[in-house]
Amino acid sequence: MAEAFNEITLPAEKAERYAAVSAEIASVLEGEPNLVARMATVSSMLANSFAHYFWTGFYVVDEAKGDELVVGPYQGTLGCMRIAFGRGVCGTAAATGRTQVVADVHAFPGHIACDGRSASEIVVPVVGADGRLIAVFDVDSDRPAAFDGVDQEWLERILARTFSSRAA
Ligand code: SME
Repeated sequence: MAEAFNEITLPAEKAERYAAVSAEIASVLEGEPNLVARMATVSSMLANSFAHYFWTGFYVVDEAKGDELVVGPYQGTLGCMRIAFGRGVCGTAAATGRTQVVADVHAFPGHIACDGRSASEIVVPVVGADGRLIAVFDVDSDRPAAFDGVDQEWLERILARTFSSRAA
């Protein structure tokens, strides 16, 4: 396992740790097709690798409703159950298909506060092998402006590699 929870001060150190966790996730999930297992593993391994992660997990598209997310595998305090497309940071990522990096969640219109300690957030859309949105991956931090382009680049890469490609 990559060293967890020692503070990262340089973007290069953060990128290095993402690269290591990314390789570990690919290795642990090799040959495992189950989506819940894949989401639970990604949540656990990322949450335990970075000190700036406070809540880490998936909101999955509720196929029965089509335009609503329901909480999936996560690490952290109790998450909200359901989020409509377009609502809050997760719903905006789902509706637009674009990663949301929010430096101050309290300044984000419609932000949903599941845990009042969340200060900043990144939400990355997750696309399945057929090219359709299957979930969003949400990381909250209790620190303001905790996420930058390094988090975005690596999370997008890890999620694409884990969920969009059939080669596990
Ligand atoms: N803050 C999110 C809701 C999910 S939780 O923080 C776990 C949002 O506004 O989408």
